[in-house]
Amino acid sequence: MYQFLDSDSTRKEKRLIWAVNRSIMENIGFTLKKSGKKSKSHWDLFRRLLGIFRILLKITGFYKKGYGNAKTIKINELTLNFPNLPDAFNGFRILHLSDLHIDSIPGFAALIIQKINQLKFDTCLLTGDYRRDINGSFSHILKPLHILSKYIQTPYGPFAVLGNHDTYLMAQYEKQSGMELLINESVEIIKDGEKILITGTDDPFNFYTETALLSLETKGYDFKIAMVHTPEMAKVASKNKYDLYLCGHTHGGQICLKDGTPLISHQFEGKQFNHGKWNIGNMTGYTSSGVGVSGIPIRFNCPAEITLLTLTK
Ligand SMILES: [Fe+2]
Repeated sequence: MYQFLDSDSTRKEKRLIWAVNRSIMENIGFTLKKSGKKSKSHWDLFRRLLGIFRILLKITGFYKKGYGNAKTIKINELTLNFPNLPDAFNGFRILHLSDLHIDSIPGFAALIIQKINQLKFDTCLLTGDYRRDINGSFSHILKPLHILSKYIQTPYGPFAVLGNHDTYLMAQYEKQSGMELLINESVEIIKDGEKILITGTDDPFNFYTETALLSLETKGYDFKIAMVHTPEMAKVASKNKYDLYLCGHTHGGQICLKDGTPLISHQFEGKQFNHGKWNIGNMTGYTSSGVGVSGIPIRFNCPAEITLLTLTK
């Protein structure tokens, strides 16, 4: 079972304040990172380059191959060892899904379900980016998300955080989508009388606020997991003695050279955070390459990923 740290009424109050704040940021296009206000020029240039790149791929015939790659999802299974893991959670399995961008490829939910059906897990944690675009409508993703959610229900979840492609308006469909949203808040997972903590923050890539920072200061647990869309809060989480940090956002580069080096990356703070397992102090982090794709629906040398993490003591 699971239990939120705040009461229902406190959660509602905090959610309302968050929604007002994020709606203002979204509506006036005020994007904020931990390091300060972002420039929008980089994204505009990136979009123009993508348009040219798409034409080149189609002319050269690479588009079809890349599209096929994007539809081929790999399951990455990892075992992570933590000496301080409560006994009841020894062998606890987390299905980590990031960057679904579920509308980028027609019928993508069915492809994901086909993969998930083969797996056994105790909870599912989703680290943001549910639609393809960064603005506009999202009603078309509610149905595929709801269908997918039926396959990830467990007594301990699923839990989800928002990414930079998601809007605050999605939060009102939380129940309909079948996932519990963690927006700068924590939940206790309780198993055989023992507890671990999961904290989820709002997206720090575009919508950083100090509330996200404060939510990662939750103390008093033997084992803590942070769920954040990007790796940007990793140092904060490590400083606050989180044990595991799950994120995505990078898509692993999505289009990479043969050695895995991304052609273009949105990850500027540390190459190690681009994809896979990393460490800061005693904290283990994992950046998923993402299940879905954005921009152009193709992948090269960077498989789409569903991650199955087994926690051991
Ligand atoms: Fe994404």
